[in-house]
Amino acid sequence: MEQAAHQQDATASEQLRIAPSILSADFARLADEMADVASEVDMLHVDVMDGHYVPNITIGPPVVKSIRAATDRFLDCHLMITDPSTYAPQFVDLGADSVTFHPEVEDDPGALIDRLHEQGAQVGVAVRPHQPLSLVTELLDRIDLLLIMTVQPGFGGQAFMGDVVPKIAEAHRWRREHGATYRLEVDGGIGAATIAATVEAGADTFVAGNAIYGAHDRRVAIAELMEIAEQARSPVAEGMR
Ligand code: DX5
Ligand code: ZN
Repeated sequence: MEQAAHQQDATASEQLRIAPSILSADFARLADEMADVASEVDMLHVDVMDGHYVPNITIGPPVVKSIRAATDRFLDCHLMITDPSTYAPQFVDLGADSVTFHPEVEDDPGALIDRLHEQGAQVGVAVRPHQPLSLVTELLDRIDLLLIMTVQPGFGGQAFMGDVVPKIAEAHRWRREHGATYRLEVDGGIGAATIAATVEAGADTFVAGNAIYGAHDRRVAIAELMEIAEQARSPVAEGMR
């Protein structure tokens, strides 16, 4: 696999990153759609849905293989599937730099994390809006990424669920108190009106589909999101967290 997984260092959680979700791109023109944002970001978010874990079917292994050949950006693959232990290793083999799965459908999430790490990938676990952080507490010191969903998984373009913000803050506190380094990623309804609240709660990685691919100028949309995020994490705001 590509070794881009190792380009991120231990300070990853301190850097703010926007991850455009290609779910909102034109799938018939994926290479161009990725190239359109590549100069502004180092990470792309790839939503894999199987029609069982969520009521939608999107991207599978052959598409990830083609995406890998078409971009050198870090591929952050979010698996919304019921059988991650069967498929997650395949996505790594095909070029995913990071694989995030929903742990409640996995018998032994710790073993899957180890296996994916052995393959050289970064590994994340995801928490749905109404799942408590306690669902994943025992995994938090062995992951590279915690994905907190701010919509119900399944579709792009939904409204941000503000009642998830305290859980983001809880995950940020846990990270600080335990000296953990996982990136804290928020996913769903992130845009100019919602990103600041997640930064203030401690998020550092922001998936955005509709807010970027639905914009007239995607690069301008990314720059605006980054500017709002940086302002929300100014030294003063940082001290208040
Ligand atoms: C939803 C996906 C998200 C989605 C976000 O299940 O996990 O990554 O693409 O799209 P927006 O930013 O449009 O809410
Ligand atoms: Zn996602």
